[in-house]
Amino acid sequence: MVFDIERVISEMTVDEKISFLVGVGLLSLPNNPAPRVKGAAGETRPIERLGIPGMVLADGPAGLRIDPERENDENKYHATAFPVETMLAATWNRNLLRKVGEAMGEEVKEYGVDILLAPAINIHRNPLCGRNFEYYSEDPLLTGEMAASFVEGVQSQGVGACLKHFVVNEQETNRMTVDTIVSERALREIYLKPFEIAIKKAKPWTVMSSYNKLNGKYTSQNKWLLKDVLRDEWGFDGLVMTDWFAGDNAAEQIKSWNDLLMPGNTYQIFKHRRPEIEEIKEAYERGEITDEMLNERVRTILKVLVKTPSFKGYNYSNKPNLDEHAKVSYEAGCEGVVLLKNENTLPLSPDTKIALFGTGQIETIRGGTGSGETHPRYTINFLDGAIEKGLNVDMELAEFYRKKVSDFRAKDYVITKGQWGEDIVPKLPQDFISEEDIEKYALRNDVGIFIITRISGEGVDRKLEKGDFYLADDEISIMSKLSTAFRKHGKKFVVVLNIGSPIEVESWKNLCDAILLVWQPGQEAGRIFADVISGKVNPSGKLPTTFPKRYEDVPSRSFPGEPKDNPQVVVYDEDIYVGYRYYDTFRIEPAFEFGFGLSYTTFEYSNLKLHRDGGDIVVTFEVKNTGNMVGKEVAQIYVRAPKGKIDKPYQELKGFEKTKLLEPGETQKMEIRVPVSSLASFNGHCWVVEKGEYEIRVGASSRDIRLVGKYVLD
Ligand code: BGC
Repeated sequence: MVFDIERVISEMTVDEKISFLVGVGLLSLPNNPAPRVKGAAGETRPIERLGIPGMVLADGPAGLRIDPERENDENKYHATAFPVETMLAATWNRNLLRKVGEAMGEEVKEYGVDILLAPAINIHRNPLCGRNFEYYSEDPLLTGEMAASFVEGVQSQGVGACLKHFVVNEQETNRMTVDTIVSERALREIYLKPFEIAIKKAKPWTVMSSYNKLNGKYTSQNKWLLKDVLRDEWGFDGLVMTDWFAGDNAAEQIKSWNDLLMPGNTYQIFKHRRPEIEEIKEAYERGEITDEMLNERVRTILKVLVKTPSFKGYNYSNKPNLDEHAKVSYEAGCEGVVLLKNENTLPLSPDTKIALFGTGQIETIRGGTGSGETHPRYTINFLDGAIEKGLNVDMELAEFYRKKVSDFRAKDYVITKGQWGEDIVPKLPQDFISEEDIEKYALRNDVGIFIITRISGEGVDRKLEKGDFYLADDEISIMSKLSTAFRKHGKKFVVVLNIGSPIEVESWKNLCDAILLVWQPGQEAGRIFADVISGKVNPSGKLPTTFPKRYEDVPSRSFPGEPKDNPQVVVYDEDIYVGYRYYDTFRIEPAFEFGFGLSYTTFEYSNLKLHRDGGDIVVTFEVKNTGNMVGKEVAQIYVRAPKGKIDKPYQELKGFEKTKLLEPGETQKMEIRVPVSSLASFNGHCWVVEKGEYEIRVGASSRDIRLVGKYVLD
């Protein structure tokens, strides 16, 4: 029998409609229904009488987050841990994002989940945001493009994706109450833009409104945002759900076109809240919520629901293709590694004797914590990856580290469980090797590698302190000793950054001969690390986010808001000058600029031509591999607007493309389209493209512009 949505709506009672808009409650609480998929973040309510099943919703951006273990069940339910989103963005590779999306989508489907609560597409406004690792970039175009490809991949599997957190959720401090004050121009050009791009290109099934307020109103209670902009202007036709327990008024949420309230039963956690169903019912009885509103919200949810595996009765296997997806995770990680510095050091020749330092070789960080966490079958740490790949690692030193880390964790640095069952992991000391030993290892090896790790997660922002944004004293002291010892003997010293978001690098970057940024690369970490340092893989990642010289240079001075001890309001007073838009316009030199990343080979750009085709400026040029290793290059197009009525940043990213793997001497013809409409600025009322001469700048980074052309718009 066909499922006729209108007929079903007409058969639903008012109470059924209302309860349908509210999730079943947090699945881990004893009074709520037992979860269909253990570890999933939420479920919607089934209405059996009408043949409506519930939907299962689960996180997250670096891989499906479900519990790997179930009671009285021998089977395991692991999902692949992919590189964190920032690292995925560092690939600048749409095809790869699509592939990662397909792989995650298959796991979602085969584990009985309907909607993946990803991608997260907030902007890297400040390096200290605790969830930056879950977001792609400081740039809206790169973010939107990465998200669109990822969503296409996920949804190609017949499950839904969810763009989150809509919108201006760029910090964790007081995220559930903070009021974000932002101009409409910055909102539209920077923060809404990635949502707009991904929605128009990839039609995600769902959007998640954020926790915070936007200019005084919770985003989940903001009709202008959820109806006027999202649906009327952009044509979004999927469903909007709240973030978990967001907002303060269920009736307002429903009135403001927030279709689904998740996870439901908020009062079970937040004692001051009343049951959503009661709040909505009362508003209905007062006539504030009409039948038409209820029908509209129910219809929107049902339209998504009928596409889900749950509705179709899909017989999921609980056996996703984890082996295949491990390869995708590895491939994505390899392309996201960014080589920040390299003075005749990397790649290491096959027989190089390597001394690996830092506890991060054992406790390698695959990703961040919170809802973006993953539970893979394994994580290959840097040490094991290097050994597996046959690198010539100093095994005495390696065993020393293994023993040291296990002793630390057994005694003074025991890992405990937090309030939510999360691991609390005390930071390990680093400076515990004697100078004699350092000397010994420096003498008998060819290169010293020191690993710096950082982890952050949902709920708290990072700290402007030693051990977080800055190096800890013991990290600096051991690095100085290692640097001196290795260099004294004419050996190289390399630093590997296993981090999710920028740290301060300027003060110590001269201590080393190479810096490799491997981010938080997921379960294949060690393999990725080994293959990149040995040159089996030529790094081709570029920074999706600026590494500032000093924290004081960061434009978002108001982060995380006022008053300082308990921020209630955060004013985005840097306006549109976020990331490189600020550093370039105000001539502040970063440590490593947006779009930057070295390669083991070199690329030459030539033959720039511009022509018009319909609404697009078509930019063509050639990229040639002029070095002697195969490699890929990310070509970036920045546009510099003429001086007009509206203030413009020095330049803005308007297009990019990654080459295929180019052989030495090989050339690729590139064609990148820049829609004229994408040059528009929001002048407070509408989008305006000013006439005049635009500079089309083709570069290997935002500050390494190789070709410049002019294009006149009149
Ligand atoms: C997070 C969301 C997540 C949800 C469900 C919230 O705390 O902000 O990103 O999808 O929990 O786990």
